[in-house]
Amino acid sequence: MSDTIILGIESSCDDTSAAVIKNNTILSNIAATQKVHIEYGGVVPELASRAHQQNIIPVVQKSLSVANIQQKDISAIGFTRGPGLLGSLLVGTSFAKSLAMSLDVPLIEVNHLQAHILAHFIDDANPKPPKFPFLCLTVSGGHTMIVLVKDYFEMEIIGKTSDDAAGEAFDKIGKIFDLDYPAGPIVDKLAKLGDGNKFKFNKPKIDNYDYSFSGIKTSVLYFIQKQEKENPDFVKENLNDLCASVQKAIVEILMDKLEKAAKDLKINEVAIAGGVSANSGLREALKQNEEKLNWQTYIPKFEYTTDNAAMIAMVAKLKFEKGEFTDITAVATSRYEI
Ligand code: KG4
Ligand code: ZN
Repeated sequence: MSDTIILGIESSCDDTSAAVIKNNTILSNIAATQKVHIEYGGVVPELASRAHQQNIIPVVQKSLSVANIQQKDISAIGFTRGPGLLGSLLVGTSFAKSLAMSLDVPLIEVNHLQAHILAHFIDDANPKPPKFPFLCLTVSGGHTMIVLVKDYFEMEIIGKTSDDAAGEAFDKIGKIFDLDYPAGPIVDKLAKLGDGNKFKFNKPKIDNYDYSFSGIKTSVLYFIQKQEKENPDFVKENLNDLCASVQKAIVEILMDKLEKAAKDLKINEVAIAGGVSANSGLREALKQNEEKLNWQTYIPKFEYTTDNAAMIAMVAKLKFEKGEFTDITAVATSRYEI
């Protein structure tokens, strides 16, 4: 049987990424992160689209050269069709369509959220992939949900956030502390140096498996405003403890619902995915439940947590095997259910 070689393209938010997968093995996974948003404290959609346009060709060329693959060897093109920022998605989608047309190979659309979850099946992502059915806490800058994964393409969202996503909470609270965007990784780093029990913040009280993060953001904001009236340097003097306390609270909120879902559904295969799954506090909390709750846990390799095209190429490969191709008239969609 000949090799299946797929070029995956990801451009849903502010990372332009291209990857090559050969059968189950990732040969390259290249990303250009956009620095232009730092000074604005968040992603500016129009600037993101423009940066994707600048980055896409060099990123694709680099991913092919690192993989040592010629364009003529490509079996299919996989691309993120949604969900995400429309202007960003349009760049990757148009590029993928044009390349598929010129190479006369199949085009394969990929759902970005499914890709975060299915990244667990890349052969170097886990020594052993999760077994179906498993629960996947999918936590990124745009989404926070508990997904019941019954099969590769049979997924059910059993809980989700009603307001901010967990990554958004890290980023917005980090902004209150005057940290650069995206603040999530910086909060994580500083939290390692602080005391997570120093400050307590309000946690939401919701019955089902849903989340809410706007309350903790407001609670932190009011607390800081009050403290700064007495001591303008309060944040500076307590930054590590503040980060540790915020991280502890967010991780507890995430884990409480995940534990409840696992218990109710009697599932002990539990995975995490998405940008916030890079968080060391969340990774540690999940690992602790291997002993405490007898879970089998799955944490993706660091490079497959935040947005990347390796996960897009992986899903495209699964669809390629099923002969599930996308028509060349397909359009990007900012909303796309899993
Ligand atoms: O999945 P992702 O790369 O993009 C989206 O699809 O949103 O996730 C990005 C989010 C950002 O909010 C970022 O702050 C957060 O993931 N993030 C982290 C960490 N690394 C990335 N949050 C907390 N701790 C981290 N180590
Ligand atoms: Zn993502």
